[in-house]
Amino acid sequence: MLTCPEPAANPVLWPWGTKREEDGQLSFAGHKVTELAQSFGTPSYLFDLDDFAARAETISSAMAEEFWEGYGFSGASVYYAGKAFLCTALGNAISRAGMGIDTASLGELTVALNPAMGVDPKKIGLHGNNKSVECLRLALRSGIGRIIVDSLGEIDLLQSLCESENATAPVMVRVTTGVHAGGHSFIATAHEDQKFGLSLASGAALQAVKKIISAKNLQLVGLHSHIGSQIKDLASFQVAAERMLAFRAQVQKLGEPVPEVDLGGGLAISYQGEEVPTASEYARSLASSVKRACQQAGSDIPHISIEPGRWLAGPVCVSLYQVGTVKDVQLEDGSIRKYVSVDGGMSDNIRPALYDAGYVATLASRVSDAPAVSCRVVGMHCESGDILVPEIVLPADVNAGDLLVIPATGAYGRAMASNYNLVPRPGVVGLSGKSSPRYIVALETVDDLLRMDVGIVGLSQG
Ligand code: LLP
Repeated sequence: MLTCPEPAANPVLWPWGTKREEDGQLSFAGHKVTELAQSFGTPSYLFDLDDFAARAETISSAMAEEFWEGYGFSGASVYYAGKAFLCTALGNAISRAGMGIDTASLGELTVALNPAMGVDPKKIGLHGNNKSVECLRLALRSGIGRIIVDSLGEIDLLQSLCESENATAPVMVRVTTGVHAGGHSFIATAHEDQKFGLSLASGAALQAVKKIISAKNLQLVGLHSHIGSQIKDLASFQVAAERMLAFRAQVQKLGEPVPEVDLGGGLAISYQGEEVPTASEYARSLASSVKRACQQAGSDIPHISIEPGRWLAGPVCVSLYQVGTVKDVQLEDGSIRKYVSVDGGMSDNIRPALYDAGYVATLASRVSDAPAVSCRVVGMHCESGDILVPEIVLPADVNAGDLLVIPATGAYGRAMASNYNLVPRPGVVGLSGKSSPRYIVALETVDDLLRMDVGIVGLSQG
């Protein structure tokens, strides 16, 4: 039976400053859960800003060290994949670590470009298999450093936009390497039968490169590969890197320099206490395959970039819920399953329902001597599949009013939250040793939802 590892026993699962206090409460960055629940309500995402900053420094310096010019490399850059979770409160940590931002929509691009973010537009990239004209125009006007083209048609569109804007676009080609990796088929992105990128095997990637070379207003600044997400097996990244560098050598033979290769995001995190590669293991294994592939191809080593999202935002945040209904349900084999309902669910964490993603949960407001029993943690939505944790050991006396925490929800949690059942999305509470807890993304209210409902003439008319 699955149990939730305690912070002291398994720090990799928990935000940095997590502690079980003497009174049995969990605390985050020095703040006990009952206090946080009282100030900010439940459900809430508790996001450790200091831990995010530390992870940003850690992965940036791991890459800088392994791809150091002194070892014969051409340096490395890290772009934070904003799709995991983006708000301006992260800007400071991102820019201090020297990172850029990878965006994938008009909204993400607009937030990344916000002056409050403090990130140089040259360090912003734009992805997307179907970018809007509005988004591409903003990218050109704001002078972002890279637009990653995803189709042959987009190359024509971008060239004509550049002509009308009198601009030159720095572009990368999103290459499908054929490496199939990742936690779930929905989040693997480099096998052939999916919507992203231009295939290496079919020749579409080479065709795109040639088209860009002959387009007057497009400048090829690099090649890009992203093979999937929640990848624990470093060998998959290595195979993709080798294919990309062999392809780069082929492009360079056309007489076109390719100064940069981006190897995408995808590094896994721990969701249930399992071991995962460290940032330095990841950086080292990438560096060794990049070097080997360049030697084999007889080419120089390009600047390498990566785009981690989950690795940075995932582990630094937990979801805080309050327990409501607790129900013993008799199963067909006569056994009892305890259903523990919390005040959130699939609207604030769709990942279990969508990908069968595994999480753990623990009692956060106290410890208990009651016997351990197998429980199922479910949400409050009108759907039987609204299950956050299918099976987890909790004390038998778990009851209404208890606080429950699910770790590792910072990536693709709030970012993929919905208003299903017209439930307001929870706020994200930023925690830091340097300041008091505060919302970094505000809590939605039912009034916010009503404001979107244009059928109501005026809220004040009640
Ligand atoms: N770069 C590109 C081009 C991507 O498409 C992605 C993720 C990343 C970087 C960041 O990948 P990460 O380091 O976060 O694994 N909603 C799914 C994950 C979808 C990832 C989409 N692309 C989930 O909740 O697991």
